[in-house]
Amino acid sequence: MESPFKADILKGKVALITGGGSGIGFELSTQFGKHGASIAIMGRRKQVLDDAVSALRLIGIPAIGFEGDVRKQEDAARVVESTDKHFGSIDILVNAAAGNFLVPAEDLSPNGFRTVMDIDSVGTFTMCHEALKYLKKGGLGKRSSSGGTILNISATLHYTAAWYQIHVSAAKAAVDAITRNLALEWGTDYDIRVNGIAPGPIGDTPGMRKLDPEEINSKARDYMPLFKLGEKWDIAMAALYLVSDAGKFVNGTTMIVDGGLWLSRPRDLPKDSVKQLSRVVEKRSRDSPVGLPKSKM
Ligand code: COA
Repeated sequence: MESPFKADILKGKVALITGGGSGIGFELSTQFGKHGASIAIMGRRKQVLDDAVSALRLIGIPAIGFEGDVRKQEDAARVVESTDKHFGSIDILVNAAAGNFLVPAEDLSPNGFRTVMDIDSVGTFTMCHEALKYLKKGGLGKRSSSGGTILNISATLHYTAAWYQIHVSAAKAAVDAITRNLALEWGTDYDIRVNGIAPGPIGDTPGMRKLDPEEINSKARDYMPLFKLGEKWDIAMAALYLVSDAGKFVNGTTMIVDGGLWLSRPRDLPKDSVKQLSRVVEKRSRDSPVGLPKSKM
């Protein structure tokens, strides 16, 4: 699908994207690149990085991959430094690296819980922390008038509760807290905007393949507001809005991009019956107001 944004909205910007070699992260790498940004991808798997970088370069996007694990502070420090050295600045940091698997809470070991907290929450903080000196004033070399921006990929699981996802719910709740607190502190001190996106189920992603191998079952589709899975493109367009000047006054928000799914629940009444029933109830309450038995009126 064509982007509704101008092709130069990220011209001259450098984006470092963790987990940018696959899934939603790779779509962000591609769309940011198509809108003018140079792309550095951080990931653990060399083959995934190499393939992603080749694909980006093939369509003319300046790209480089750096192997690293967001759980290791020394990897985070090395990758932000290498990105700045290679491209001359870091203007946009996207924390898209995440870990996930389905498991009932009673079967999840504390180490399994910690592993996802380490990747999603501590990893996000570590990357932000290590990137700060580059994000201030749009990179060490540049010293532009405003700072860079951070985008954290979150989820909607923790807004209510999610089956077999206690570790990810806890981790993403922490990510949202990181987004708001950094937006407050770094927005005030350095003009760095920090926002998030909470995607719903997005088709053709590793997350979807892991968490819902059969995809959304047909029963759930009956009450999904927009009645379909999202596309990686949907997340990338929201991301472009948030990291470009289009979102220059948006700070500390986590934008839900899920077609309204997190609000959904099965209907308690069919639509036709509700009209009928509501008239009957209206009539009954008019005829017999609360507290006044009909005989007293
Ligand atoms: N069910 C229950 N526990 C699990 C599990 C599962 N499916 N997968 C891993 N764990 C537990 C392990 O048992 C281990 O705990 P233990 O030491 O108490 O046994 C702990 O988690 C760490 O597992 P390990 O395999 O050593 O972690 P890893 O660092 O190699 O991998 C994961 C991290 C588990 C998050 C892995 O799924 C991953 O790398 N994911 C990244 C990609 C991804 O998930 N993308 C989707 C994003 S939505």
